[in-house]
Parts: sequence; C-alpha cells; structure tokens
Amino acid sequence: MRESWATSGSDLHLELAGQRSKTGLEQALRAAVRREQLTAGARLPSSRQLAEDLGLARNTVAEAYGQLIAEGWLTARHGAGTWVAERTPVSVTAEPPARTAHSTVDYDLSPGVPDLSLFPRAAWLAAARKALSAAPNDLLGYGDPRGVEALRVALAEYLGRVRGVVTTPERIFVSAGFAQGLDAVCQVLRDRSTQTLTTEAYGLPLHRSIISARGLQIATTDVDADGADVDSLGDAALLTPAHQFPTGVSLDPGRRRRAVERGTLVIEDDYDGEFRYNRAAVGAMQALAPERVVYAGTASKSLAPGLRLAWLALPGHLVDDVVEAARLGGRLPGAIEQLTLAEFIASGSYDRHIRRVRLIYRRRRDQLVELVGARDLRITGIAAGLHALLEVPDEERIVHRAAAQGLRLRGLRNYAAPGRTGRPAIVVGYARPPQHRLAETFARLRAALP
Ligand SMILES: Cc1ncc(COP(=O)(O)O)c(C=O)c1O
Repeated sequence: MRESWATSGSDLHLELAGQRSKTGLEQALRAAVRREQLTAGARLPSSRQLAEDLGLARNTVAEAYGQLIAEGWLTARHGAGTWVAERTPVSVTAEPPARTAHSTVDYDLSPGVPDLSLFPRAAWLAAARKALSAAPNDLLGYGDPRGVEALRVALAEYLGRVRGVVTTPERIFVSAGFAQGLDAVCQVLRDRSTQTLTTEAYGLPLHRSIISARGLQIATTDVDADGADVDSLGDAALLTPAHQFPTGVSLDPGRRRRAVERGTLVIEDDYDGEFRYNRAAVGAMQALAPERVVYAGTASKSLAPGLRLAWLALPGHLVDDVVEAARLGGRLPGAIEQLTLAEFIASGSYDRHIRRVRLIYRRRRDQLVELVGARDLRITGIAAGLHALLEVPDEERIVHRAAAQGLRLRGLRNYAAPGRTGRPAIVVGYARPPQHRLAETFARLRAALP
C-alpha cells in the first residue's frame, strides 16, 4: 500500500509492504532510506503524526522507530524528535540489489549489440518528423496487429530485394524484437501439438528459455564448419543459416535444401544478414520454401536493440494465429516507431545506413584479424556479421585475464546448449565498442590473449 505524509514541506511516498504492521512500516522506512528518499539528517514526523497519517496505532509507529534506532537507521533525542542517521547500517534484511540488465564495464567485446553511437539520429529524426506529419489520425489508433501497413509494405519490398525473401505485406508481422516473434511462433506450434523444437548446439540462451517457457521440449543439433546438421531435425527448428550464432559459419546450400525437404518448420533467424564482407550475400533460406520457413529479421543489429522492432515473414497458415498470440500478449510495437522505420526504409536511409556501418564494421573486423594473426590464433566466422570466433587454448583463463583489465569477453561455452561443452573459444563482438574506445578496447584484448 502506498501512503504519504509531509516531511520538511515535501511529500514522501511510503510503500507499506504486506500487512499494515510494525514490520511493514520498518521495511518501508528502511527502503526509503536506502533509496535516499529519506536522506541523512532528515527529520521524521512524530510517532503520533505518522500514526495518524498512516492510520496505524501510535505504539506500532513508536515500536518501529525504536527498532530502527536500535539498528542504526534512525537516531533520536528524547523529547526532540527522530532523524535519519548520518550513516545507515548494511542490514541483513536488506532487499537484494535491483537486477539491472546493464552493468558498467568500460570495455566490452561481448556480442549482441552494435555500436550504439552509430545510430543515425539525424536521419531517424527526419524520418520521424516526416512520417508523423503525414500520418492520418487513424494511424494513431489500435491499428492492425500485424503492424502498420506502410512498414509491412516497405519490409516486403526491402526483404525481397536485399535478402531474397518471398513474401507479401499481408504475411509480415512486426514484432517487439525477435524475442517476441519467437515467443508467439512457439506458442502457436505448441497449440498445434508440436512437442519438440530443435535448436543449434550453440545459440542464445534467451531463445532457449523462450522456447521452454512455451512448453516445447528442446532438442539440439550439432554445428560444424558447414553449419547445423539438418539430418536429425524434427517437426520444428530454430536455425541461423546466414551466420550461425555464435560460431559464424554459414549453412551449406545442400543442407539448406535438405532441411526444408524434410518438412521441418524452420524459424530462420536472420539477425545480421545484412552484414557481409568477403562473399556475396547468402540469400534467405526462406525463398526455398516460403510455406515451411518463418523468416525473422530485426533492427537490433542494423539499428539498435532499444527500438524493439523486428519482423517475421510468415507462411500463410501461421499468420493469423501468430499475430493473435502476440496480440494477446499485449505488447505490440508502437505505431510511431513503425511509421518512422517505414519512412526510413522507403526513403533509402536504411540502405545508406547499412552501407555506412558495414564499412566501419568491416574495418574493425580487419583490425581484429590482424591483431589475432600476430598471435597465431585461429579466427573464424569473419566473412559476415558483427562478431567472430576466436579459438584459444583456455577460454576461462582469457575471460578472467580480460576482466582484470576491465574488458568483458564472452566465451563460447556461454552459448552452448545444456550438456554441450564445446571447444574453447571467445566470441568477439567487435561491433559493440563505440568508435572512440575501439583502439583501447583492442589493446586490452591484445593484453589478455596468450
Ligand atoms: C542470434 C540472435 N538472434 C536475434 C537477435 C535479436 O533479438 P531481438 O530482435 O529480440 O533484439 C539477437 C540479438 O542479440 C541474436 O543474438
């Protein structure tokens, strides 16, 4: 329950945890001090006043104050009042620290996030202004749960042109990140009696968690230099054919064909398909069997994960159910962001942005290759994408050595499916550091390597 009273002229909101009891009040006061809602030296209301404000017995408040004085959170002078103590204790009853998605590391080569300083702010703002000025009011309503039509049209054109995807705007679903799209597809597969979904032996743990949370069993298939072994796929599979995550290999053309010929429903996670350097683009596998492949793209690598914008090109038989599953989940992407992306793509800004950052990432990749070449280490997965796989003799040791220098590295074992150990390697996300920190980040990597 949220209560408030006035102290020193300002309102203080107090969360009374659980019952309106002495313990609940103690917890609320400790929390207010910890959050610095009540700062050292702040005077508390009298026990009578607080009891009145909160509708508690005066004794309850007096006892809670007494307890907190004994613990060192508050101080009191007889007859003069109660204050927040200058130094508050570390309490054994302290709440665990809030879970944060981001910790502060100065140098970071873990994969998954592109250089956020390259986000095309000016072009994005221009697209937002143009799109919003032109949008009819209706577009600000609830709209089509598949996504704003202008974006689905722009994506269908773009995906056909750049990735060879065979689709129409009607079959596109704009999701809040691939994570949401995967979640909705898994829900539908489960509802349609699919029991097991096969994932690659290495992949993003989050995706495995989403699959399991939807009640599907996970089977895993090996990954070698030609990509995933497709000969043991069951009813459904999640694959990263263009650039296996995180080993970086691409799926052999024969295997692509065999995967779809088996009748497996493949979710093709094309998370960084636009980034290719040394070889002609490997087109989307979806074109081989648009009715058996769910193509998935995302703005998380090409623009920024914070946008939470991704897209599925769905087989016709899945569109309605997948969209409904996501709609019932209740967190579809906002229309203004979608309109902006539609304008961004249609105006050519997306293509220009990709060309620009691709060149930057390619240079970084070359620097990385040179750096590790000097150490005689093998690096693979460099033809495309935003990360590479660096084979090392002792993964854990290097991760620790890097950490000692303030550099975060992720070992391949972090991505291995349960029961798979894998070879020792580091997944180097060379796209992540901002440009101005790149030299120092690479210097730290050099120092951490054997
Ligand atoms: C393998 C893989 N697929 C997809 C994504 C994109 O996920 P989302 O669109 O949910 O940000 C990522 C992001 O890290 C990824 O590593």
